[in-house]
Amino acid sequence: MIHSKISGTGRYLPERVLTNFDLEKMVETTDEWIRTRTGVERRHVCADDETTSDMCVEAAKHAMEAAGKTPADVDMVIIGTTTPDLIFPNIATLVQHRLGIPACPAIGLEAACTGFIYALTTADKYIQTGDAKCVLVIGAECITKLLDWSDRNTCVLFGDGAGAVILEASEEPGIIGCHIGADGQYLDLLYYPVGASKELQKAGTDEAAIMMAGKEVFKVAVSTLGDVASRALEAAGIEQSELDWLIPHQANVRIIQATAKRLGLPMEKVILTVQDHGNTSAASVPLALDVAVRDGRVKPGQLVLMEAFGGGFTWGSVLMRF
Ligand code: COA
Repeated sequence: MIHSKISGTGRYLPERVLTNFDLEKMVETTDEWIRTRTGVERRHVCADDETTSDMCVEAAKHAMEAAGKTPADVDMVIIGTTTPDLIFPNIATLVQHRLGIPACPAIGLEAACTGFIYALTTADKYIQTGDAKCVLVIGAECITKLLDWSDRNTCVLFGDGAGAVILEASEEPGIIGCHIGADGQYLDLLYYPVGASKELQKAGTDEAAIMMAGKEVFKVAVSTLGDVASRALEAAGIEQSELDWLIPHQANVRIIQATAKRLGLPMEKVILTVQDHGNTSAASVPLALDVAVRDGRVKPGQLVLMEAFGGGFTWGSVLMRF
């Protein structure tokens, strides 16, 4: 059987950093409220002329370098994002071209904050069937461009960035199990009211902003993330205590603490980047993975569980031996 394994990771964060103290000057909020209610202390924000594909290209270069791969080695590109540069062509084709990756399937995939987990799951399947051998998988988001900067309920939560991995065919796992899901009944709790076939005329006006029922999202997120994590472990016959690391979606430190508690995992085994990045949507998990790989916490051979939850709702987990 063919397995898949991550052989390199990379990340890119925009240069501009916005702290909670900066936000205090923009909306009625305090550093103390943001830190205690969300865990966020600062976030990176794209420049006006910076796009999601710009960030993808930089993150991808680092991942390819870490994996010892050149663009010619890559035979598929999959990018999870809610904020592609254009409605079409899809963002993966832009990134493929800019990196000089030879013609191959290039898939742009939208699953809100679960985008990277969906993309990694898809890449794993293509590798298992033998249809791909070396996939560039990216989660990236320029979500601050969707924010209403006068809405304190949402503008304090989010940040921009991109995280990339190279997923390669391998004789040993690698990825042990992927579980993804969605339930569209929750549309009204978290959405952006502009698209290509509906309300397009509003795009770019202050009428369009992220709509979120924070408290309700919080509750469903905690129970769903707990379930999807337990299911991943059960399916693999692995006990919580065997896990080396949990790399959760970085939306809110309180959601992460509640999920870790449900799993019986001490916070020492949880990778936390929400304080530095905020909620970067599809980029959050691969950014946290790269931080932990490069600072030496996540080591080859360790058992890692990644999980995410986002608008839709969508959710998913990937259990792997790094
Ligand atoms: N600064 C100061 N006060 C703020 C604020 C801010 N930035 N944002 C909201 N408030 C106020 C609210 O207006 C409310 O005031 P009120 O009681 O006078 O109405 C009060 O703080 C408490 O709001 P509440 O909604 O109860 O706070 P909370 O503890 O639920 O935290 C969230 C709010 C958004 C941080 C939290 O619900 C959350 O993280 N939800 C999940 C969001 C998420 O993860 N979304 C993405 C999913 S992928």
